[in-house]
Amino acid sequence: MKILFASSEIYPLIKTGGLADVAGSLPRAIRNLRHDIRLVLPAYRGVAARAGKIKVLASLGLEGAPGEIPILQGRLPGSTVPLYLVDCPELFDRDGGPYSAPEGGDWPDNARRFALFARAVSALALDRVGLGWAPELVHGNDWQTGLVPALLSREARRPATLFTIHNLAYQGLFPSETLAELKLPPDWWSLDGLEFYDQLSFIKGGLVYADWISTVSPTYAQEIQTPEYGCGLEGLLSARADRLSGILNGVDYRDWSPCNDAHLVRPYSVRRQAGKADNKRALQEDFGLPRRDVPLLGHVGRLVEQKGIDLLLEVLPELLARDLQLVILGSGHAELEQALLDVQSAYPRQVGIRIGYSEPLAHRLEAGADMFLMPSRFEPCGLNQLYSLRYGTVPIVRRTGGLADSVVDATPERLADGSATGFQFEAAEAPALRVAIERALALHAQPEAWRRLVTRGMQQDFSWPRSAQHYLDLYQQLVAARPG
Ligand code: ADP
Ligand code: GLC
Repeated sequence: MKILFASSEIYPLIKTGGLADVAGSLPRAIRNLRHDIRLVLPAYRGVAARAGKIKVLASLGLEGAPGEIPILQGRLPGSTVPLYLVDCPELFDRDGGPYSAPEGGDWPDNARRFALFARAVSALALDRVGLGWAPELVHGNDWQTGLVPALLSREARRPATLFTIHNLAYQGLFPSETLAELKLPPDWWSLDGLEFYDQLSFIKGGLVYADWISTVSPTYAQEIQTPEYGCGLEGLLSARADRLSGILNGVDYRDWSPCNDAHLVRPYSVRRQAGKADNKRALQEDFGLPRRDVPLLGHVGRLVEQKGIDLLLEVLPELLARDLQLVILGSGHAELEQALLDVQSAYPRQVGIRIGYSEPLAHRLEAGADMFLMPSRFEPCGLNQLYSLRYGTVPIVRRTGGLADSVVDATPERLADGSATGFQFEAAEAPALRVAIERALALHAQPEAWRRLVTRGMQQDFSWPRSAQHYLDLYQQLVAARPG
């Protein structure tokens, strides 16, 4: 099967979160199942230099482009997956992140940037580039590709379209004038189109016009049909419930395994767990904490409301009265960053905070901590709990989205039958989080029971082949039903 996979971030070329990890590993897994999947990404600054030998394939005349737009071809590093780059320097060749400026804040021309990207993806999908390669299906991800299914829906003969929601909270909303400014079809301006409370919604392009909508866990697929999680789109999503499903993300264990992780001071595995203790001591050193044998709790992530860091801040004063340590790596909202730094100043021997982004430190933290905190208010899938399981770092998670689908709560029954892998709590409230942490600390004080829990977690298999097969089944079903 021929598939074009469009994403606004792809690890290891450019990453802000889990979408990049998925876009860098799912296509590889599909390729291993012997299908012709190709990636397409904007040519952000520095990306082409890291994508192998680059060929200029063709140039496209696209609405809204400053001139002809070259399409480059390279490869996803470490794989045989072809990668197309949409090379519009005026929009993509700049310092800063894929969505925001170096000093923070969204790029003011994001609507124009991702409309152009969507137009380029659609042109590739219809082989307007003249490559002699036309996909049978286009798989878009998140709002940055939302216009792709909408544009393709206007074509008589077109590939099937799948749109995956990695995070419904990011919708690509722009002022109403944007529709005309971008010369998008005026008939899109309706409740059944891309209008959302008098704004232009890019994500609605995917939700309304894709042949199928998927999201990254079965539980999140249900949750987003409710007002609590639907971000105002629950009505639309329930109306399309017969074309909406959830497939849990996988993990690329080539990048995330403690037995062959170059960032660790000593490798370890489920059969030889001793090395984990060395990684704990190294992590204490990394964060300037005393090397003591006390429970070490950790977190890595974007410091935003979604991740429930405020709940954690609420429980910290009580928690830090106990003999334990906490290390956090992340960046995001300035107030949350500052609040965490304040806790570090108040408890310098117990708390280590690193504001910033560091791939090596994220790996070392997964390896060195005893427990990994994910008190997320919502979590479409979450990857860190999957990494934590493999690293023998017991996840403490809120029972939502992919966290509910991947962690087995250590209830007395689950401990007795040996299936427990972590700790869950229900209410998005500090006391519920506190109870879950206390349950974890109590079990940690029983070395044998703890060891069983850790071992069970390390044995879990969330590798891609199974989830990739689910995607492939879905691709096949959609291609068989394709119009035109
Ligand atoms: P989300 O996509 O919502 O941010 P996920 O759990 O799916 O959450 O994925 C987050 C990914 O980003 C993980 O690979 C995690 O290790 C990484 N990550 C997040 N923040 C940082 C950071 N400050 N430094 C290094 N890696 C980070
Ligand atoms: C999003 C979600 C996260 C998910 C990731 C990859 O960023 O917040 O839960 O794991 O996408 O699908």
